[in-house]
Amino acid sequence: GANWPGLIEHYREYLPVDERTPVVTLREGNTPLIPLESIGRRLGRGLRVWAKFDGLNPTGSFKDRGMTIAVSKAKEAGAQAVLCASTGNTSAAAAAYAARAGLRAYVLIPEGYVALGKLAQALVYGAEVIAIRGNFDQALAIVRTIAEHYPITLVNSVNPFRLQGQKTAAFEVCDQLGTAPDWLCIPVGNAGNITAYWMGFCEYAQRGRIAGRPILQGFEASGAAALVGGKVEPVAHPETVATAIRIGNPASGVRALAAVRASAGAIRVVSDPEILEAYRILACEEGIFCEPASAAAVAGLLKYGHEAPAGGQVVCVLTGNGLKDPDRAIAVSAVEIAPGADPTASAVAKAMGF
Ligand code: F0G
Repeated sequence: GANWPGLIEHYREYLPVDERTPVVTLREGNTPLIPLESIGRRLGRGLRVWAKFDGLNPTGSFKDRGMTIAVSKAKEAGAQAVLCASTGNTSAAAAAYAARAGLRAYVLIPEGYVALGKLAQALVYGAEVIAIRGNFDQALAIVRTIAEHYPITLVNSVNPFRLQGQKTAAFEVCDQLGTAPDWLCIPVGNAGNITAYWMGFCEYAQRGRIAGRPILQGFEASGAAALVGGKVEPVAHPETVATAIRIGNPASGVRALAAVRASAGAIRVVSDPEILEAYRILACEEGIFCEPASAAAVAGLLKYGHEAPAGGQVVCVLTGNGLKDPDRAIAVSAVEIAPGADPTASAVAKAMGF
């Protein structure tokens, strides 16, 4: 809307807040649903495809949806500090909302595996950044222990307020489409977001806002595929270029699998080359720059879209902004920057191929 108030105000009746809750907001949510016409043409059969571009949230990822409410509730409860483990986006969002709320933020990250833009955000928002020589799963285990023993609020998605906020993305998709989509394609890491979407679709169906619920199609990176066997099978050493979903033991795995089953969907794998190809197609053919983990949703659709009902509506969740990971963008770019040309029109024209 013209003066969007943020998702807590907009969806207040669906959220566990009341007049005592101090709303900490950066006016997150209300992100666009963008038609993916080129990808729709590639798939054919009359499929209509959209991207829910949640990379356009205030800190550049869907995490803002969960963090606005998690930090508001932490402040309401009198917390002085928040804590999370993160592959980067949660830490950026926690740092930003904590700064706005006047709380300290402590973030635990896997050393060497957080994209540059995300690290820059946590630092500039003023978080205490602690890098561990370990992966996300180890970092999450550590912060869970610390939050049990010290007076600090955990804001990972094991905090139930996080998924309450994130479910609003499902509401928006339905409000924007005027119906539920037939398929929802979504990347899966710690498995919180797919669980939150399902909560949102179920709640909208119960309240009569939509007639049916979508089939959930979740996609893990092949090097971090703990859920594809239909049960949680932890991967000890997860690896993928999509560092946001480099997670081997998803905290919400059981709930995500139940959601997927209830929707008659599946969690399947996409390889790193498939992820990077979708990343490139989104940028070069659709003009949409998302981060590699987000492209997993589109990689999955390109791989399995032939199973979607002809003429159906498919929404791919693009969870994070491409600017988060400039190193990857430059590394995959086929077009190299031409070597420095002389500062003359004729030299530039020549470099342009005229
Ligand atoms: N896409 C992006 C860009 C993410 O940052 C994440 C998770 C996911 C997808 C997967 O969502 O974990 O709910 O299944 N990022 C977390 C973080 C782990 O620390 O920022 P999920």
